[in-house]
Amino acid sequence: MKIFAHRGYSGKYPENTMLAFKKAYESGAYGIELDVQETLDGEIVIIHDETLDRTTTGSGYVKDHTLSELLQLEASAAMHEEYPGMRIPTLKEYCEWVSTTPLVTNIELKTSIIYYKNIEEKVAEMIKEYGLEDRVIFSSFNHLSVVKMKQLLPECPAGALVELIDLANAGPYCKNLGFEYYHPDVDLLSKETVENCKENGISINVWTVNDIKVFNKMQEWNIDGVITNYPLEFVKLSK
Ligand code: G3P
Ligand code: MG
Repeated sequence: MKIFAHRGYSGKYPENTMLAFKKAYESGAYGIELDVQETLDGEIVIIHDETLDRTTTGSGYVKDHTLSELLQLEASAAMHEEYPGMRIPTLKEYCEWVSTTPLVTNIELKTSIIYYKNIEEKVAEMIKEYGLEDRVIFSSFNHLSVVKMKQLLPECPAGALVELIDLANAGPYCKNLGFEYYHPDVDLLSKETVENCKENGISINVWTVNDIKVFNKMQEWNIDGVITNYPLEFVKLSK
């Protein structure tokens, strides 16, 4: 089973930082999942929330700050004592680094709460610039964003990210949109939905798997990939 490090190795290191990404690579993970948002001056940055308050020393919306303002902030929040000097990474900085590794990156476009106009074009340009077309999977809770990514980069796989529901017709739904993947919340995923995806040729990457019993169940169900905060632990258990 493929192991994706959720926001990097976020169970041990500050989420969505270059340190968490590098530690995920060292853990032997197959890939990394990360979240992208856009700054006031149109730069793509890697941060989970629309606001800065939870994970950084700043406050307010990402969209209301320039990149140079964001780069002044500490990005390690609660882990500040242990890991001082962390910065919010840009997608460009990440691509520069990841292109030197064999990692696959699941880029989650955070466009379902705030829609960043043309973020898809900017992400696609970046992927082309670094030649990462064969090593990315796009996903978003905003499926229209994923459709747009597919139009821009048809060769790149993409998945429908869902929460709050077990989409019973996930297989045909993803297939009809031209997606290769379904990215469900592990707590809501049923065996029937897994079968429904398999029947329609849709692969599943499930999030967020941090419990060994749940991981074992996903292996029994022949899920393609798990997205976890603890890549090192699950790489060891992966068949
Ligand atoms: O992409 C899987 C997972 O990251 C979705 O939820 O809130 O952690 O971005 P969230
Ligand atoms: Mg995410």
